[in-house]
Amino acid sequence: MAEGATGLLAGIERVGMDRRRGGFSRHGFDYAEMELREWFSEQADRRGLDVRPDRNGNLWAWWGPPGPNAIVTGSHLDSVPGGGAFDGPLGVASALAAVDLLRARDHVPRRPLAVVVFAEEEGGRFGVPCLGSRLLTGGIVPKDAARLMDGNGMTLAEAMSGAGLDPQRIGRDGEALRHIGCFVELHVEQGRGLVELDAPVGLATSILAHGRWRLTFFGEGNHAGATPMSDRRDPLVPAARTVLAARRIGESVPGARATVGRLSPNPGGTNVISSSADLWLDARAADDAATRAVVEQVTAAAKDAAADEGCELLVVEESYGGPVTFDEGLRRTLSATLGDVPALPTGAGHDAGILAAEVPTAMLFVRNPTGVSHAPAEHAEPADCEAGARALATVLGHLTST
Ligand code: GLV
Ligand code: MN
Ligand code: MN
Ligand code: MN
Repeated sequence: MAEGATGLLAGIERVGMDRRRGGFSRHGFDYAEMELREWFSEQADRRGLDVRPDRNGNLWAWWGPPGPNAIVTGSHLDSVPGGGAFDGPLGVASALAAVDLLRARDHVPRRPLAVVVFAEEEGGRFGVPCLGSRLLTGGIVPKDAARLMDGNGMTLAEAMSGAGLDPQRIGRDGEALRHIGCFVELHVEQGRGLVELDAPVGLATSILAHGRWRLTFFGEGNHAGATPMSDRRDPLVPAARTVLAARRIGESVPGARATVGRLSPNPGGTNVISSSADLWLDARAADDAATRAVVEQVTAAAKDAAADEGCELLVVEESYGGPVTFDEGLRRTLSATLGDVPALPTGAGHDAGILAAEVPTAMLFVRNPTGVSHAPAEHAEPADCEAGARALATVLGHLTST
């Protein structure tokens, strides 16, 4: 089994290809993600790892019997709609490749080692990012999670049942958490930090505070031809003004990011004035106060725009996570083990950010020459991927030798 991280990724390069958008669309418990779970289970089996799902739909592969103080690594296999090949799968493939490297060195772990695949990290299907790790840590109320609905009206509970899981049993899993001594996630970098530092691999220091808000504008559905321009309550008009406000307000708060990546007119017909429109705001900043300030200003602008058009506005917070600083002690250990690797912050969210509230957590980043992520142009050179897998193997070897 000498395929390395790149060879493993090549084995799944056709799963969930999105011919319409480009890139990949792989979402929690959909056909593509289930195929990838199957692939992961087979790969883990071939390595003699013991694969078991947890109550929340995350998949664990154990080297050694599950037990306390395990060193856990892994990432996710789902993507954003039309995403790149590396965000998520690189961390899973590198974890398997690291197991191979450790075996080739005759390493015998003195603590259990596990590779985990978290469910629906991107929130591309049910709207809440890091859903599997949030459920595991109790970061979302189980009955609220069970009711989350995808774009086709299927609930998370139904999707989980379809995947052979019992939705009645989702929620904080103290037993699984007690097994985790520390968690190390490898991820493609989502920016050009490592390119500028001329380094193939780096360590993460922190994650921005971030959340998602749904703004629904209610207007009056009507006929595009028969309704005079003066007689409309078109919810897309305040929605469009809110997109512009998000850009302006995001630019005005230092270090903040405000994005409208999804806007959905209802019912959505070319010759139909919409009756309502959903707009999702993704807001991030260095701390809670700055993030809240962005959201407050954008929603105030949305409210004014709605009033001007005679529309109503409803705002719902769909998810939120405060800023994360990764464990300094673990980062120092990784730094000492790896030698000269730079450390850098990120604006992207990760399961490691959710787990950081519970256990010492660290992240390794692999250089991305395009700096692009959440898009098909996301990239990592094979040599850098293998450097990442070797770095992960070194770290896991060190952490499991005491
Ligand atoms: C997930 O990758 C996010 O940062 O939104
Ligand atoms: Mn992502
Ligand atoms: Mn990711
Ligand atoms: Mn992410």
